[in-house]
Amino acid sequence: MGAVFFEPSTRTRFSFEASMLRLGGNVITTENAGVFSSAQKGESLPDSIRTLCCYLDVIVLRHFDDGSAAIAAAASTVPVINAGDGPGEHPTQALLDLFTILEECGDPAKQHVVFVGDLKHGRTVHSLARLLAMYGTCMSFVSPDGLRLPERLLQELIAAGCTVHEYGTLQEVASTADVIYMTRVQKERFEDLGGIALDGSSYALTPELVAAMKIDTVVMHPLPRNSEIPTWFDEDPRAAYFRQAQNGLYVRMALLEELLNPFPDE
Ligand code: NCD
Repeated sequence: MGAVFFEPSTRTRFSFEASMLRLGGNVITTENAGVFSSAQKGESLPDSIRTLCCYLDVIVLRHFDDGSAAIAAAASTVPVINAGDGPGEHPTQALLDLFTILEECGDPAKQHVVFVGDLKHGRTVHSLARLLAMYGTCMSFVSPDGLRLPERLLQELIAAGCTVHEYGTLQEVASTADVIYMTRVQKERFEDLGGIALDGSSYALTPELVAAMKIDTVVMHPLPRNSEIPTWFDEDPRAAYFRQAQNGLYVRMALLEELLNPFPDE
């Protein structure tokens, strides 16, 4: 497996690499591909991928451009796994998020999932919302005006038959959530925050919000977090984000196994 990362990563890259090693495979990695590859010399992504697939059986790619994974897949003769394409998608995170919801709560169709924070640039939100739409999950979206879920995606969820609502503050919806999916502001993806402050009580957990939550509400976060989840919440049994990160290992092991060594009848 080649792990070709043009953007920083802790969980995604380490869990993919640990997965491949645990399955008995090998890993070749570059964690700063923009500098430590011929991209630095002006090589195009398709040319790099055409070369890399001569040496690898599967490519895990994280890139800063929306749509880059599809471009890479078109140039590759081996499977390309999208490990995040800029503000676009993060499908393997969605798989581990869905697995976490199944483990922690049960049937995704019966949950009310509340997404909070930077829903415009948050690729994990985009991919998980699309995946949950396949189950008809009821979804709410809490963000400041400038960071709302892209309208096209909102319409896609409605067209899929989901009940969706948008809110300006978490206070309005915390008490009815089965899952609260927190996110950080993707500061690196836009120039000017334009006065947007996400660390206030509208988009961060506070003792009041935690008291309003149901006893079995599950709090998830793709991590890394900033101030939206204070560390005092970590010992609360409802804090599922490190269990969620652990699930990344199992789900990525399953994905690699399925891609490289599928059951004979499939
Ligand atoms: C996220 C990512 O890179 O999109 N992290 C992850 O992969 N678990 C979330 C983020 O960067 O905020």
